[in-house]
Amino acid sequence: MATSRTAPNERVRDTYDRLAALLEQGDDAFIEEGPSILQDAIEDEAFFDGVETEHAEESYTRRLVHRESDGPVIRFMEWPPEYTLMPHEHHGRPCFEVLVDGQLFLADMEAENVSGNEYELDVIDGTVCGPGEAGVVDPRTGTDIHAVYSPVRTRSLHVYPDDNHYGIGYVPTEASNDRYRSERFQLRD
Ligand SMILES: [Fe+2]
Repeated sequence: MATSRTAPNERVRDTYDRLAALLEQGDDAFIEEGPSILQDAIEDEAFFDGVETEHAEESYTRRLVHRESDGPVIRFMEWPPEYTLMPHEHHGRPCFEVLVDGQLFLADMEAENVSGNEYELDVIDGTVCGPGEAGVVDPRTGTDIHAVYSPVRTRSLHVYPDDNHYGIGYVPTEASNDRYRSERFQLRD
């Protein structure tokens, strides 16, 4: 579960090492320079040698490409058509997504605590990503709450630090569709 079953191919190995070196420099370098390293790497077909996704039906799938403890994790994700991933945040940790094909809409949101564990969410920014483009979750922007929508079947490479293993989700309350409660969840392996 925690490690790749097979050794990464040479192109993945090289890309991983460069992303790991950036992460060692800090989160800023990781999200500022990481996406272009991956964007360049996937232009080379050799990157995908032995790198596969799983067909997504009801929900997204995430297959491990490579990870090492305390380094970054690279996963190959597939998103089914017309799928919405609930608003969530990664406790201040950064991540980015580079699209292989399809289209993703990333909405940055802001939560206002209205009472107890009840929040109102507002969309403050949005990014549409197409093939070869990157979506970045940058906690320095003041919010790292985001929701993801895939209008069509989409494949993407998702990169995040290994310490980013849980998230906080915002789930609509039963009382109102505009009110959410926050809930800790474990990111699926
Ligand atoms: Fe996320």
